Amino acid sequence: MEFIDVLNARHSARAFTREPIPEDRLQRVLERAAAAPSWSNTQPYQIALAQGADLAALGDELSERFERLAPLQRAPAWKKALAAVRRSPALPDGDFRPVIKYPDDLQPRRVATGKGLYRHLGIGRDDKQARHQQMAANFRFFGAPTALFLFVHKGLGVYSVLDAGIFLQTLMLAATDEGLASCAQGALGLWRSPLEKRFRIPRHYQLLCGVSLGFAADQPVNRFRPEKLPVSELMIPRRER
Ligand SMILES: Cc1cc2nc3c(=O)[nH]c(=O)nc-3n(C[C@H](O)[C@H](O)[C@H](O)COP(=O)(O)O)c2cc1C
Repeated sequence: MEFIDVLNARHSARAFTREPIPEDRLQRVLERAAAAPSWSNTQPYQIALAQGADLAALGDELSERFERLAPLQRAPAWKKALAAVRRSPALPDGDFRPVIKYPDDLQPRRVATGKGLYRHLGIGRDDKQARHQQMAANFRFFGAPTALFLFVHKGLGVYSVLDAGIFLQTLMLAATDEGLASCAQGALGLWRSPLEKRFRIPRHYQLLCGVSLGFAADQPVNRFRPEKLPVSELMIPRRER
């Protein structure tokens, strides 16, 4: 594909076919991602790759945790505190705190994107069940045959997170070039322990997020394209002298 076509074609897919990714295509995607630039070429990230029975088992475990977490999120503070004291497995045990309250200036963008997706899917404001199901689909990897979990080295702080972001985008663009769809998922960073059971993760690597990969299913959700800001809104104005 032409580079510009790859850029334009990449979008977050939230419905995948079960078709497995051919080994050689997945390998090329990973090799291209591994060529991404990083701080002093330290490449301070590692990935855990899950497919087949491993991925299905992970999906079961993450989904179960999510189903136990969801009611807790709406529960009064004392119930949350009790769950914390009892070290309930429903509570996230990821390495980074999930964003609970968005900053005032970013919240409207988040809401516009969320509302846009639900409107696109015909899900009403009060249809809590459908909204829940859409969120729950994250933990089944939207049906994808492959998921990658991205870990960053603790020792470089924000710089390893920056490098991981570049790696992730390189990976998603390389996937697009191979005819594959992707969805980066912060939701897959909520629980570390299910991954610990299946992978020998170095202690100094922190779980950042996941990304589902596969072939896009022909479903309406995959035709959703959230609006992006015009470049002018990203520009910091010069001071008048
Ligand atoms: C780091 C990161 C985490 C994300 N987490 C999720 C997620 O948990 N679930 C989800 O459905 N989409 C997730 N997304 C996808 C964003 O919602 C999406 O990138 C954004 O709405 C812009 O849409 P586009 O990717 O189609 O351009 C994530 C994207 C990024 C980059």
